[in-house]
Amino acid sequence: MAGPVILERAAELRALASALADSSTGTGTTVLVGGEAGSGKTTLTTHFVATAECRVLRSGCDGATTAAPLGPLVEVAEALAVELPADGGAPVDRVRLFAAVRAALVAEPTVWLIEDVHWADAATLDLVRYLSRRGEGSPVMLLLTFRDDEVGVGHPVRVLLGELATVRSVHRLGVPPLSRAAMAELARRSGVDVDVAALCERTGGNAFYVTEVLAGEDGAVPPTVRDAVLARTARLSPAAQDTLAAAAVLGGRAEIDVLAAVSGGALDAVDECLAAGVLLGGGAEVAFRHELAREALVSSVLPGRLRMLHRAAYAVLHESGADDRQLAHHAAAAGDGPNLIAHAPGAAARAAALGAHREAAEHYRAALRWGHLLGPAERGDLLERLSYECYLTGQLTEAVEARGAELALRRDSGDALRTGTSLRWLSRLSWYRLRNSEAERYAQEAVATLSQLPEGPELAMAYSNLASSGCSRRTWPIHRSGGTGPSSWPGGSATSTPRCTR
Ligand SMILES: Nc1ncnc2c1ncn2[C@@H]1O[C@H](COP(=O)(O)OP(=O)(O)OP(=O)(O)O)[C@@H](O)[C@H]1O
Ligand SMILES: [Mg+2]
Repeated sequence: MAGPVILERAAELRALASALADSSTGTGTTVLVGGEAGSGKTTLTTHFVATAECRVLRSGCDGATTAAPLGPLVEVAEALAVELPADGGAPVDRVRLFAAVRAALVAEPTVWLIEDVHWADAATLDLVRYLSRRGEGSPVMLLLTFRDDEVGVGHPVRVLLGELATVRSVHRLGVPPLSRAAMAELARRSGVDVDVAALCERTGGNAFYVTEVLAGEDGAVPPTVRDAVLARTARLSPAAQDTLAAAAVLGGRAEIDVLAAVSGGALDAVDECLAAGVLLGGGAEVAFRHELAREALVSSVLPGRLRMLHRAAYAVLHESGADDRQLAHHAAAAGDGPNLIAHAPGAAARAAALGAHREAAEHYRAALRWGHLLGPAERGDLLERLSYECYLTGQLTEAVEARGAELALRRDSGDALRTGTSLRWLSRLSWYRLRNSEAERYAQEAVATLSQLPEGPELAMAYSNLASSGCSRRTWPIHRSGGTGPSSWPGGSATSTPRCTR
């Protein structure tokens, strides 16, 4: 087959060149390149950045695991000389961080290509939002790709597209299927004797599907893209197929030694995959030639074997010092509850510190699937954090459910401080859900519960919540004999009627 080729993308390349020209005059642009999986987004954008006469930064988002917080920024942080906080640190000041990223970017004309943002973490999308709205005076082109068949209604990328729709320097670009003429041309160049009509009909012009069929060399057109991938790998030896299954479980790329250790196979099986072009080599690492091929392979591994591979991946990566996020992913897929619980909270805390709250919630949720292995206090802590992350990301129903479950645990344990705090949160969440009477009931109970304890910030917060959650007909409760009650709070009075301020 001939070398890398790009057909029928002249109009798209012109549109990208025009956006780059705009950014070079100081009106920073954002271009969102959408198309179905395998339509040719990477090919188009790679071709484009290869010809760009300015600094080019490249990053991508990972679909194999829960998204890495600010993953695309981490990949270019060194090139931009932007410092990211180390693991386990306090929550990052995002205003400062985003401003520093922008300052580093605008220092010279730049194209920053971020691939596959349909898998981006919430903090990355916030950064994209921040940069896209600040194109003025910026010689930067933000070039993003996403699978438009994976961003349904309510998907964070769909929301982002809506928010940026009115920003003049933000453009969308579609990557259409290849035409029949292009497919015939690719078939001719490949030298494979294929029925072009069948190729057109089955593949619908999907560039990846077409390429897989033509790499098959026998001209057969399998009924699905997955079959086309698997037909190609079926010709490999059993050892090479085992290696591929292990590589698919490890994600888009893997160190060769890690791969060999996880598959339990010899290194020449890795070489066979490389020789067949199913994996691509680069130094000590190998990578899948395409994410769609990896996805097809993962889907073909039987459940028991999949667990064993994830178990082996956990053991090898644990030994090599991988981070909590990766270890939690493999532990979860291996059905290894104790290790999942050991790593998921750390992964969640890291995500939350960087502002990736959706991902933080995902990690807490995963840990809680094994919550029965924990004592009530630890389970309560995880529920509390899950509820908070859900609250931050607008998942209010789940936030209430988690708080409710936490409250039951706190009550059972007789921990009045945490019970009161949980009640206060339930009041607040109920208020957000427009359930005013519930909000008021929880608010009263929170004050009553915390009033049994020595005064502290929790009681102050409970009163503050009560002041803003109630309605005009209510009067202040005083639960402690001789207690100070609201009359001792600034502006408070034991008989005053709190105003609704929210
Ligand atoms: N314009 C094109 N002309 C010829 N071949 C193409 C073209 N675009 C893509 N291809 C072929 O199709 C394959 C898949 O394309 P590509 O990886 O760019 O798809 P993608 O849209 O990025 O997929 P994904 O959604 O999985 O990221 C490429 O490896 C390439 O061989
Ligand atoms: Mg791609």
